[in-house]
Amino acid sequence: MSNLTETNEKATLQNKETDTDCCGPDCCSDTGNEPDADISDHTSDIRDAKNSEEIKNMVKRKYSEIALQSREDNASSCCGAGECSDEVYNIMTDNYENLKGYNPDADLGLGCGLPTQFAKIKKGDTVLDLGSGAGNDCFVARSETGETGKVIGVDFSEAMIAKARLNAEKLNFNNIEFRSGEIEDLPVNDNSIDVAVSNCVLNLIPEKLNAFSELYRVLKPGGHFSISDIVLKGSLPGKIQKAAEMYAGCVSGAIQKNEYISLLEKTGFRNIQIQKEKDINIPDDILGKYLNEDDIKEYKNSDSRILSITVYGEKYAE
Ligand SMILES: C[S@@+](CC[C@H](N)C(=O)[O-])C[C@H]1O[C@@H](n2cnc3c(N)ncnc32)[C@H](O)[C@@H]1O
Repeated sequence: MSNLTETNEKATLQNKETDTDCCGPDCCSDTGNEPDADISDHTSDIRDAKNSEEIKNMVKRKYSEIALQSREDNASSCCGAGECSDEVYNIMTDNYENLKGYNPDADLGLGCGLPTQFAKIKKGDTVLDLGSGAGNDCFVARSETGETGKVIGVDFSEAMIAKARLNAEKLNFNNIEFRSGEIEDLPVNDNSIDVAVSNCVLNLIPEKLNAFSELYRVLKPGGHFSISDIVLKGSLPGKIQKAAEMYAGCVSGAIQKNEYISLLEKTGFRNIQIQKEKDINIPDDILGKYLNEDDIKEYKNSDSRILSITVYGEKYAE
């Protein structure tokens, strides 16, 4: 089975699980016809936000809420304190369970790839995770750097940072550090990082060129990154965009794949490669909430796609 098919099957399975449990998209509303109002508030807020600062504040608020709700709370209180948002937002996640270093407490189901699998991390490396959340990729990266390396996670949500630090303390790890800060203004020294990873974060950032420039600044000459992210191919009709946003969360800030690669090139990165690419498929029942049958057919026959990519690039070795 190809990776693509396997991943799509997993996504379908996940869709089924989500649909049948009480926090699935169908049960987040009073009527069963409309998606949950609060999720809708967040996503349409993000779409309608006027400037980068507003968007960033909304993203920060959303992920802080997600950090504060536990999986257990969500399971036991149906749609939970966060209005089941992590059920909606985790649909693109790959399965981490068999990865060395996996820490279930750090896995909030918010990623859209497995960047550490492609990141060529070596023993003793200093690794940076951009938008580290509760630390999911940091713990996996640490199992590859070993005791002699170091892992730094950066996130602008204080609640995420607190959760990630607690996770590291519980394991007595003293070579994982979580720093509070913005990716567009990284609290990291120039030329200090061997490998950078990121999982489903940069699509959320309005000024992507600033984020890429900061990534370039902190990498050592010859250093590299492996980033999983959401991009688009073709123009998504407005209603599809809305359906996708309700379903997956990370779509409103996503840009075209070509544009994403061009920005990386413009920043100065070399040897840029797509290491993995998969379609994000929105199930018909979600599409059906926003589109009629003809619209759905038209979308499926078009070339427009929402993609999860894992992209690699290197900083020029002077
Ligand atoms: C979709 S979650 C992914 C979290 C983590 N990478 C994972 O896979 O579990 C996005 C994370 O990026 C953080 N984030 C978003 N924009 C950011 C920014 N501009 N600076 C720092 N962190 C940011 C959010 O607070 C959130 O924790």
